[in-house]
Amino acid sequence: MVKALIIVAHPEQQSYNHHLARFAKDILEQQGAEVRLTDLAAIALDPVEHPRHYRKRRKADRFDVQSEQRWAHEDGATPPDVTRQIEDLMWADLVIAQFPLWWFGLPAILKGWIDRVFIYGGMYSGGRRHDTGHCRGKRFLASTTAGASARACAYNGQEGETELILWPSLYAFRYVGFDVLRPFIMHGIRGGVGPDELADYQAMIAGYERDYARVLRSLDERPLVPYNPDEDYDTLRQLRPGAPVHSPFIRHERDPRWDCSNQVK
Ligand SMILES: Cc1cc2nc3c(=O)[nH]c(=O)nc-3n(C[C@H](O)[C@H](O)[C@H](O)COP(=O)(O)O)c2cc1C
Repeated sequence: MVKALIIVAHPEQQSYNHHLARFAKDILEQQGAEVRLTDLAAIALDPVEHPRHYRKRRKADRFDVQSEQRWAHEDGATPPDVTRQIEDLMWADLVIAQFPLWWFGLPAILKGWIDRVFIYGGMYSGGRRHDTGHCRGKRFLASTTAGASARACAYNGQEGETELILWPSLYAFRYVGFDVLRPFIMHGIRGGVGPDELADYQAMIAGYERDYARVLRSLDERPLVPYNPDEDYDTLRQLRPGAPVHSPFIRHERDPRWDCSNQVK
């Protein structure tokens, strides 16, 4: 039986994102899955990693975040709200994050959930990441809504391509070991739809929901986001010559448009 954790990151329970989280829960349950749903706004998860979360600090004069996360983990003193999130993650074999695209990225509460929950020592370390990450064997699906149209979010659209915009966020899940499924993205999701547009808008939503239901019923067939395996990198953790390139973020050729090596002249 699939154990699925759905994390919804939206402050309004009547939002379309909450509707989609419940929609996914219903469909997965119909498939026989056991589903837990975490509403980050309802539990008021503090997205700000901060010394106040650490009652027993090993180093009081300076908050070294990764070290305190690791020490807290070793001392069994991980903040209780984080511990609960990690327990759910470890329980699940499928994790779905349901969120709107906000300012070309994750809503702060979801980004903060990653900052606080993917703890150094507990969720990753130098020796446990990527192919050997703690979440190895688990699957992750991002289900994202965007206000801009599919055309504006295409490869040549002014908003930038949504799948590329999501790449760094999804990489955090790859980093801790997840198999990352291709994200499911709904474009053109917005309020204030006028009466003359309503029929078209509803037809678009109905189409998206049919597609999402199909995706949820056939997750085994959903392609994964491709990443290089660890052996494609050398000892300096750079891509070996001849290794395949799966994204513009990790490639063989320097591109002068993105070259940061000349920051100091
Ligand atoms: C703070 C904020 C930032 C947003 N940034 C983007 C954006 O970068 N790209 C985009 O397409 N839509 C953006 N939107 C629109 C939302 O993605 C859209 O309203 C949402 O997906 C609709 O889902 P909902 O009804 O569940 O809120 C933004 C909305 C808000 C409130």
